[in-house]
Amino acid sequence: MPKTLSATFAEKLISWHARSGRSGLPWQGNRDPYAVWVSEIMLQQTQVTTVLERYPRFMKRFPTVQKLASAPIDDVLAEWAGLGYYSRARNLHTCAQQVMKDFGGQFPRDPHTLEKLKGVGRSTAGAIAAFAFHERAPILDANVKRILARLYAVEGVLQDKKTDDQLWQLAIDLLPKNAKDMPVYTQALMDFGATWCTARKPVCLGVEKKCPFEQSCQANLSNQVLVLPQKKTKTKSPEFISNMLLIRAGNFILLQKRPDKAIWGGLWSLPESPWTSKAAEQAVLVNTKSLLKEILPTENVNVWQPIFKKMTLSQRIKHVFTHRCLWIQVWSSEATQKTDLLDPSLKWISLNQLGRYGLPQPIKVLLQGLSPVRGDDLKN
Ligand code: ADE
Repeated sequence: MPKTLSATFAEKLISWHARSGRSGLPWQGNRDPYAVWVSEIMLQQTQVTTVLERYPRFMKRFPTVQKLASAPIDDVLAEWAGLGYYSRARNLHTCAQQVMKDFGGQFPRDPHTLEKLKGVGRSTAGAIAAFAFHERAPILDANVKRILARLYAVEGVLQDKKTDDQLWQLAIDLLPKNAKDMPVYTQALMDFGATWCTARKPVCLGVEKKCPFEQSCQANLSNQVLVLPQKKTKTKSPEFISNMLLIRAGNFILLQKRPDKAIWGGLWSLPESPWTSKAAEQAVLVNTKSLLKEILPTENVNVWQPIFKKMTLSQRIKHVFTHRCLWIQVWSSEATQKTDLLDPSLKWISLNQLGRYGLPQPIKVLLQGLSPVRGDDLKN
């Protein structure tokens, strides 16, 4: 490693942050580890602009780790609705309970101990330790990996353990000597990766701004900025199809609570058929009875059928996840009354109560499009 760069990196980066970094964000400058932890988890897969809106709301609803730990999980999921990656919300809840039970309500300051908390990886543990406790703990998220792989022309594939170890070692070597600089340094690294040393349009390839590391960045000096870091070539995301039932009885919709371990675990969604591969797409099911039997195997569909209007394929929605894509085929029907339900995960939920339930984003959008009917006097 060129000595000059490692000796001056932190200082140069901090002075870059003073000129060009992000400041004034609601979670910055806060040393409450609970507040730091919530912001870091929310920022993991959500854009800063969205977090700016949702973070204050979350903190108002759950102002302390005690309040979060004692809240029902459904309330936490409902508050998280729309932010995606719901395992984050379930992990937040479990982690808050862990902090209450194992640490007497106080977050530990040691990054290795923080890493034992549910949903807290090594980099997030480093960020919490640095922001809340000024610990000299490194972070290494995807943006930081890119910065370091470029600065030192690290050529290995990011997913390889050897490359990962090499990058963590660099992250440790470059830490500022003075622990009080840890919050600004950590924020500067995040900001530099997110705004200047970006994946596709790094400023060194433009003419408007001058990167403070252009004379020392090995990737820049060897014309490899856009090829580093190396990633494994991606395979195309597999596509799936699911048939979902949108059954409405007056102002009530039949929803089903999803199993905890599944995608959208713990959220309320439309009852659905198992996902099948789109590649093996078969003739679309049109028989109402077979659809009902497949999707609601516990219910007595013979009782249901006479009270149903004809079921029609009303929408096809494409929903893209990180590693897969789901085609949702929405089968709609109206029932003249709410039926008794046998499966306890099923529930008739009133349209005007939907806000209280955590719903997957595409389902939320779909249901928002339904308008209430007046004078709904349907009874069980
Ligand atoms: N991404 C993760 N943590 C962040 C932070 N503290 N500021 C901006 N983006 C982030």
